[in-house]
Amino acid sequence: MIRHKRVYTTRSGFLTETYRDSGLTGCLRKIAAAIKMHLPVMTIGRRTNSSVGAYFDLITDDARMFYGDSFHFGYFKDGGEDFATALNNHTDIVADMAQVGSSACVLDIGCGICAPAIRLARRYGCRITGVNISAEQVRQGRELVARHGLSDRISVVEGNALKLPFEDVSFDSALCLEVAGDICVTKEQKIKLADELHRVLRPGARIGFSDLVFTGRPTREEERAMRSILYHDGRELMTDWPGIFEKRGFNITRRMDIIDKTMNTWLHSLSVYEGRADEVERRYGKAIARRTMEYLRQIPDILSKYGSFVVMSAQKEGAM
Ligand SMILES: C[S@@+](CC[C@H](N)C(=O)[O-])C[C@H]1O[C@@H](n2cnc3c(N)ncnc32)[C@H](O)[C@@H]1O
Repeated sequence: MIRHKRVYTTRSGFLTETYRDSGLTGCLRKIAAAIKMHLPVMTIGRRTNSSVGAYFDLITDDARMFYGDSFHFGYFKDGGEDFATALNNHTDIVADMAQVGSSACVLDIGCGICAPAIRLARRYGCRITGVNISAEQVRQGRELVARHGLSDRISVVEGNALKLPFEDVSFDSALCLEVAGDICVTKEQKIKLADELHRVLRPGARIGFSDLVFTGRPTREEERAMRSILYHDGRELMTDWPGIFEKRGFNITRRMDIIDKTMNTWLHSLSVYEGRADEVERRYGKAIARRTMEYLRQIPDILSKYGSFVVMSAQKEGAM
């Protein structure tokens, strides 16, 4: 998904639009989020968990406006599907890896605004607990869940997936849907994430996992495009997730690479931005709109060169 942080810097067009949409409170909320998001990068040179949360606080309205309610890549299984179907395909394949269909109690870490949880609670009748570090996404998620009449089955908790506010062995399955690289801003946190999921899952329970990973280091210019569009450095995404989960007490029972089938996500994003060019310019200003388009056009090549998109089923050792 497009996460162009540069557009949130100082543009008055953006604040004017925000004022129109959500008044002074909305503007103040976004200014505070922008400061919280940029400060750690400027002072300690890297993202922190709370700056990632601030980032999602900031981009959620605009991402929904241009992209939809799911914050992940599309999975174009047949190639010809529309974008909404491809987003749902991605949710479904991860749910299948987690065996959500036979779970009563599902944990969804980094749950976005609950679009995946809503789809799965409807389809399978399970109870889902979402956890999200972004206060704004928690607010919008609860609203969306209520609008779908599912507040009795989906609850959303504000918190850090690395320190889950739940008892040991309390869930039948977990979704880790394109979030691990967002949750873990250091190497140590990657191990911590696997351990935390191990702690809260019942023996034999499965995690449905998906995420973008990199197999090589991008150039400086490529990293600029990555940071601008995806709020990630490619080198941070160089992770052997199956290996980490295996070492922390899980068996990887299924595993695939779907990168080729996610690529239409970029054709779609480009066509949305090109089709709404006037609006994009008005919101973010000419210079930023132009730069964002330039970076956006580079992403498919960068992903073809270094990207892999891991989808896997990781089963906690022991019987259910
Ligand atoms: C790429 S989005 C995916 C959202 C959702 N899984 C979906 O597919 O729509 C990443 C999500 O992870 C959340 N997140 C990032 N770091 C987190 C953390 N440490 N703990 C909990 N949630 C986190 C973000 O706020 C955001 O909702």
